[in-house]
Amino acid sequence: MGRIKIYKLGRTTSTNDVAKKLAKKKRDDFLVLAKEQTSGRGRKGRNWLSPKGGLYFTICTDHDHLLSIKTGVAIARALGDMDINSSLKWPNDVLVNNKKICGILTEIYENRALVGIGLNIDSEPIDDSTSIESVTEKKYLPENLMKSILRYFYDGSIDVLESYRQYSSTIGKDVRIETASGIITGKVNDIDENGRLILQDGSKVISGDVIHLRPPN
Ligand code: BTN
Repeated sequence: MGRIKIYKLGRTTSTNDVAKKLAKKKRDDFLVLAKEQTSGRGRKGRNWLSPKGGLYFTICTDHDHLLSIKTGVAIARALGDMDINSSLKWPNDVLVNNKKICGILTEIYENRALVGIGLNIDSEPIDDSTSIESVTEKKYLPENLMKSILRYFYDGSIDVLESYRQYSSTIGKDVRIETASGIITGKVNDIDENGRLILQDGSKVISGDVIHLRPPN
């Protein structure tokens, strides 16, 4: 990875938005870190509540078709170092005890990729989510967690797809997927080399919101 330039901010609108402005001028990878966000954004135009004490950062890097998958794996590995077992709900929600602890928003802009990561550390801003401190009952500094994630993000030594399969809680499940072109249901067999879900009937899904269905009793 070498050393990547880190822009540290206090309160900002959204680190993805700040990174967009910087992306126009920078060719090398860089990172924007904020203590809190006033207009944090999630996937599908949702808000991402971002009070002080959480981790909010965006990596600007070159695009690669497995970027979201690779980011989810980096976070799961960093959590593993803290003895936190996590799983990845496709494409890249990071769950602990089946509750969301971290979200990833990947956007393409000016031919670069912006990977925004929001990790709950000392609070759970939305219902039914969890946080590092509620799982471990220890205190953590956001910046140390960011460094650990960054190290794994730039670690090219593993087979990302294989590692993703180990962490995936979606592979093998019956799911309902809300896609732009409608609802799909089926059993998930695997993900392909581009990070698409492969269903049992052979069809592939590139993006959508997955709901894990419980097996019938
Ligand atoms: C999701 O919907 O699960 C993705 C949430 C991504 C939130 C992060 S926080 C840092 C970066 N800046 C944003 O405005 N969003 C991402």
